[in-house]
Amino acid sequence: MAGNGAAARGGGGRGVVISDDWPGYSLDLFTYPQHYYGDLEYVLIPHGIIVDRTERLAKDIMQDIGDNDIVVLCVLKGGYKFCADLVEHIKNLSRNSERFISMKVDFVRLKSYHNDQSMQDMQIMGEDDLSKLTGKDIVGTGRTMKVLLNHIEKYNPKMIKVASLLVKRTSWPDGYRPDYYGFEIPDLFVVGYALDYNEYFRDLNHICVINDRGKAKYRV
Ligand code: HPA
Ligand code: MG
Repeated sequence: MAGNGAAARGGGGRGVVISDDWPGYSLDLFTYPQHYYGDLEYVLIPHGIIVDRTERLAKDIMQDIGDNDIVVLCVLKGGYKFCADLVEHIKNLSRNSERFISMKVDFVRLKSYHNDQSMQDMQIMGEDDLSKLTGKDIVGTGRTMKVLLNHIEKYNPKMIKVASLLVKRTSWPDGYRPDYYGFEIPDLFVVGYALDYNEYFRDLNHICVINDRGKAKYRV
């Protein structure tokens, strides 16, 4: 419907909402690395759906960007898959349209999790030429994003847009919402598609929920 809230906010909408009682998909229905057999509970979002949803985010971003060139700031390490797929989709859409958007890609590295717990202090590494657009993998409390945005604003970019693949429902009380997001998920610790648990599971394609055995096995 034209003129609704989602459109006014720039096309982000609510994302795909995954409800608290969503049982996920059985791991037996998909392939995944053998070294993780027994460590996962279920598949929350299969890889194909992630990629398809990201393509739509790319289209929404393209529509809002207009004729501006963009700098994509990828938040490592968890955001690298989402960022790479998003950039690829923007490139493809742009190639097949009238206006070819010029893109630069930059990276920052953030670390704020230990086991499955959010830590108080956060490290930011490698920010130098930051502007216009940021891509991130997951928004939980929103604390990480706020710290990063404070940093970026010092560079006075013309426009800042935040794209996140996932938003956890815990983030609402904190008041932070990215401009674009793929999925709104329950307050679960998830792994895969570059999201880690102590550096493990980044090599898993699907976004999955880790089980107690997996947590114990890779605890530090
Ligand atoms: N998984 C992995 N990394 C994260 C998460 C999560 O659920 N939340 C914040 N960082
Ligand atoms: Mg991590």
